[in-house]
This record gives sequence, structure tokens and C-alpha cells, in this order.
Amino acid sequence: MATYDLAIRGGTVATGQGAIRCDIGIRDGRIAALAESIPEAARVLDATGLLVIPGGVDSHCHIAQAEANGTRHEESFATASHSAFLGGTTSVVTFIPHVKGSALAPHVADAEAQASRESMMDYAFHQIIADPTEAVLAEIPGLVAKGIRSLKVFLTYEPLHLSDGEFLKVLLAARRNGCLVTVHCENFDAISWRTQALLDAGLTAPKYHAWSRPPVVEREATHRAIALAELVDQPIQVFHVSCAEAAEEIARAQARGLKVWGETCPQYLTLTAADMDRPGFEGAKWMCSPSPRDAAEQGRIWEMIQRGTLGVVSSDHCGFSYEGEAGKAMNGRDAVFRDIPNGIPGLAARMPILFSEGVAKGRIGLDEFVALTSANAARLMGLYPRKGAILPGSDADLVLWDPTRTQTLTNAMMGHAIDYTPFEGLEVTGWPVATLRRGEIVMQDGKVQAEPGSGRFLPRGLYDYIRPTGRLANGFDAAPWPVA
Ligand code: URP
Ligand code: ZN
Ligand code: ZN
Repeated sequence: MATYDLAIRGGTVATGQGAIRCDIGIRDGRIAALAESIPEAARVLDATGLLVIPGGVDSHCHIAQAEANGTRHEESFATASHSAFLGGTTSVVTFIPHVKGSALAPHVADAEAQASRESMMDYAFHQIIADPTEAVLAEIPGLVAKGIRSLKVFLTYEPLHLSDGEFLKVLLAARRNGCLVTVHCENFDAISWRTQALLDAGLTAPKYHAWSRPPVVEREATHRAIALAELVDQPIQVFHVSCAEAAEEIARAQARGLKVWGETCPQYLTLTAADMDRPGFEGAKWMCSPSPRDAAEQGRIWEMIQRGTLGVVSSDHCGFSYEGEAGKAMNGRDAVFRDIPNGIPGLAARMPILFSEGVAKGRIGLDEFVALTSANAARLMGLYPRKGAILPGSDADLVLWDPTRTQTLTNAMMGHAIDYTPFEGLEVTGWPVATLRRGEIVMQDGKVQAEPGSGRFLPRGLYDYIRPTGRLANGFDAAPWPVA
């Protein structure tokens, strides 16, 4: 009998702490050995000329999310998994929604049912808190017991946004229960005021979305979120940072030793507000919040990645098509930018864009690429080293990556259920040729093969403490603050 179920031979293994030429032996879905040569295996994958990297961990995806208005995002866990595998991602952290006036439990049950029935990728959850009543906060220990260890709050969007007092309640509940809090940082009142002024002036086209939320509204909310988190001594992750002004707030907090992490997304590295200025209503396809900015801001976001301030690059994948009843074109209705569903799809494009714009263009190295696309998210989500690592004992989530292959992105290549990609026509260098999930080849040469329901729920441990450099500061799983 062979010693290993599968051997990956001849590749250059990018561990996140250097790249080495070695073989990988896989047994029972896990990495069993890294060795110069693995001779005995039931099956062999030839990785000559390829990189072998950890499967992507995308810790910010909206999948099959039920909205307060009764609609559900078009992307199911099955279609999202298909898209994820094509782009080299094997695990996601997605959202359990919440609606004011409701308990968390029914939303949890619905998200669990959707995911367990359909997911092919492994998955974990953030719990959105839209209404932090005593009864809702009392449900948090039950979430933690299940391994749901992060709460998500919005400082903008009607009807999700929290007041400062409500946000403080969530921060305190998170601190008591050992959860991370992730935050959408934009100032609700400022955006509402500017939006009304634009609409009153008859400025309704998609491009005015950017005008309604300039960087200052993001900077202010980021500053406030950090200040309130400091008051409670509660770690937070600021989601989808789009501008240097907000990133500087995070950098200052990190320099002061606060437990604040920053995430950005490929859209803030490749798209601009001008993308929303297309003829007709087409610009809606590029509409997300915060708004994409301009080329100079993209450069500054790269700097903040290079400095380590922004340590995670997620997709913020959102399942809204352009056409259709719930689509961004508003089904021909007399639409204004305020009513367009926010968010864009990007699960499959995330890693190729970051490799191409980052590694191939010399902005970051391979170690940083691994940190930004899997290891840092796995650490912060309490999934490391099961995920985001190529170590004996880690899940054998691996991607065979051709660093030289060039592709022009098209929607067909995204393999998602959405009728467009905002990255259409972007040329990338570097492409996943095979994806392994727990040792199983789930994608090879653009063909996905996996059973819906074969993805596993990932119960999460306590998040890890990471310095802005992305390196571990205090080891794994020790409580990093006194629990009141
Ligand atoms: O526009 C965005 N980002 N939509 C998704 C929801 C969110 O804010 O993360
Ligand atoms: Zn958000
Ligand atoms: Zn989001």
C-alpha cells in the first residue's frame, strides 16, 4: 500500500516563509510530509514549473445572503464554490444576516442550511448584528459555542447601521465572549445628507454614488470605530479600506499598539470612480461601498499593503447581477444611484489580480502574496494553521499556480452565477491550474469537480494577534486581553 494518497512533485512550494523546491505528500486530506522527494504515492500530480501555494482564504464574502427586503443574493454556495475553486480559493468566511426586531437563531439556521446543503468549499461565518438588544446579545455565547467567533457591524446603510451607543454594546459583548468585531466604516448621516443634496439637484446617475461618499466619510468612521474599540479594549478589523486617509487611521492605531487590523479588496487596486461613469445605467456594475477612488489612491493603498497596515485582501464578493428583478439595472425601473444594490462579484478574480498586480509587477513578494490571500486571514479568523499554511498537519488545501500564464479576464472565466464581472478585459499574469481542497483535486485546467455539500463548516478558535507586519506577535490561541 502506498504511503501517501497523493504526491505533488516538482513544484516550488510558497510557504509564506520562503519558497522551496520540494515534494508534498498528502494523506487523509492533510499534508503529511514535505520532502525533497516523495517516491510512494497512490496518485501523483506533476507541478514542474509551477508554484504550490496555500488555498485561498477569502474572509469577506456575501453568499446566498438573505436581505431585509426578502430577496436573496443570486450567488448560491454551490455557484460561489465553483467560482472560488476556479480562482484558487478553498475557504470562505461569509455572513449570517440579521434584521431589526428578529432573533439571530433563525438567520443562523437558514445560513447553516444553505451552506451545508450546497457548499463545496469549506466555510465559516461572521454574524451581522443589526439590532443589539439584550436578547440578541444574549445569543452570542451560543454562536461562540458553535465556533462562530466574529461579529459584523455596519456604520452606514439603512436599516443596518448602528449608532455609536449600539456599536459600543456590540463591542462590549464581543469582548466578553471572545469574538472579533469586523466593521464597515462610513458615516451614515454624512452620506444620507450628501445623497439627498445630490438627488435634490437631479444628480441620480451611478457615478454620483462616489460623490455621496468621499474619503472623509470613510476616514471619520474608521477613526470613530477605532476610538470606540479602544475605549472597550476590543480588537476590530476594518473592512474594505479604499483610501489612504482611512488606512492612516489604522496605521496610527497599530503604532499605538491597538488591536486593529485592516482589509482591502482588489476593486480598490484596479477600479476607479470613473468606472461608474458609463453610458446609460451601466456604471451600476462597478458600484460598491466604499466607492472605488482613483489611480493615485490605488497607489496609496498599495503603499499601505507594503507597509503591512492592510494585511488581508478579500473579495467582498456580492451576488448581484446587472439584469433581473433584484439586479443592479433595477429591472428598467426609474432608478437612482441610492437604490442600486451595493457590491460586486470578485471571488474568482481575487487571487489572480493580486498575483498579477502585486507579484508579477514587483509590488509584493510571494511571502506577502501568501500572507495577504490566505495566511493572515486564517490567523485572524482563528483558522491557522489548519488553513493558510503548508505545514505537516494542515488541511491539504493547495493551489498549483502557473506564475507565467497570462489571461484576459472574462465573465465566463469567473464561473459564478452573476451576469458580469467588473474586471472584464483586465489582463493578468499568473493563473491557478489546479485547486485541491483537503487533498481532493476539485479544479484542474478550468474544470471543477466536487459534490455540493462536501464543503465543511469550520468552527473557529480565538483570533490570533498579528502585528502590522503580518507576523505572529504572541503565539497561538492565548487570550490576548483580560475578559471582564
Ligand atoms: O458594496 C459593498 N461592499 N457591498 C457589500 C456589503 C458590504 O458593505 O460589505
Ligand atoms: Zn461593508
Ligand atoms: Zn461586504
